[in-house]
Amino acid sequence: MAANLYIILSFVLVTGILAGIAIGIFITGRASKIRRKLVTVGSSTVSGRGVFALKKISEGDIIERCPALEVTDQDIGGELLNYVFYGSTETARLVVMGNGMLFNHSSTPNVAYYREQTTLGVELVLYALRNISKGEELFYSYGDDWWITRQSSSPE
Ligand SMILES: C[S@@+](CC[C@H](N)C(=O)[O-])C[C@H]1O[C@@H](n2cnc3c(N)ncnc32)[C@H](O)[C@@H]1O
Repeated sequence: MAANLYIILSFVLVTGILAGIAIGIFITGRASKIRRKLVTVGSSTVSGRGVFALKKISEGDIIERCPALEVTDQDIGGELLNYVFYGSTETARLVVMGNGMLFNHSSTPNVAYYREQTTLGVELVLYALRNISKGEELFYSYGDDWWITRQSSSPE
């Protein structure tokens, strides 16, 4: 009788340990698939705030997929003009969330972006043009027109 109880308790114990290991492997596997944050906002090397790499980023890596809101140019005025992107038509403008509107300009950018229509709405997808070191500031090019329309020449 005591021997049977001993066998049953051992079986329950071993089964519990094996189930714990299996659950641990499942959770760790899922956690490694969650992308770690790649960038943070800090004091820029060129103007106000800027976006910086928290870790090494490789050429082609997607840095951030930013949900965006497409509005018309009538909705945009004042300082916001300096932050929005062009949208799908000449009069459309994109208000970009996440860190997307805080990148500064460089004529030798390390980041580029494209607009993508997803099932959830428009996204601005930012990706690395080259390998980027941890701590480097990230820049995309605003384009020459951006600076011309602000009566200013494009800075380096
Ligand atoms: C989209 S915001 C960038 C984030 C901005 N630095 C901030 O602190 O909010 C665009 C503004 O940043 C400034 N800026 C961006 N790149 C620059 C550069 N390379 N040199 C000087 N000013 C720049 C300009 O004043 C521009 O109007």
